[in-house]
Amino acid sequence: MMERSFVMLKPDAVKRRLAGRIISRFEERGLQIVAVKMLQIPEELAMEHYQEHREKPFFTDLVSYITSAPVLAMVIEGRDCISLIRKMVGATNPAEADVGTIRGDFALETGRNIIHASDSPESAEREIKLFFDESEICTYEMPDREMIY
Ligand code: TYD
Ligand code: MG
Repeated sequence: MMERSFVMLKPDAVKRRLAGRIISRFEERGLQIVAVKMLQIPEELAMEHYQEHREKPFFTDLVSYITSAPVLAMVIEGRDCISLIRKMVGATNPAEADVGTIRGDFALETGRNIIHASDSPESAEREIKLFFDESEICTYEMPDREMIY
């Protein structure tokens, strides 16, 4: 089934100039970038985005990290892409993430794990709405689509 996922390159990915390499992985896999924007997340939006964690001990640090510098927010489209992207991203703690995953190749600490990706169709829908208007999401033909699917 065609799905959309919300993916966000966190401040450390942007500051470490890893954005292009990470985006390339999604493109090379055959996934389609359908929206993208750079923004410095306001605190209220950060708290809303991570609302499921508001009671956790790491919440305050998480919000200050994610608001500390610009992020690159994206919507990525592809067949069953929500779970696929989670696999490509790797475990929350990069020290435990498999080599070959984004976190497993580029990060070492949970608090600096460089990327966010939606974990279910429900969170994808919620997160996309938080960051994007429907009018900001693009539809376009992929000329090599038949070679991928
Ligand atoms: P979570 O949703 O559990 O992980 P994921 O990003 O893989 O979906 O947690 C959200 C973010 O909170 C996580 O990317 C990094 C941060 N975090 C911590 O700082 N400490 C922790 O112990 C956990 C579980 C998460
Ligand atoms: Mg999560």
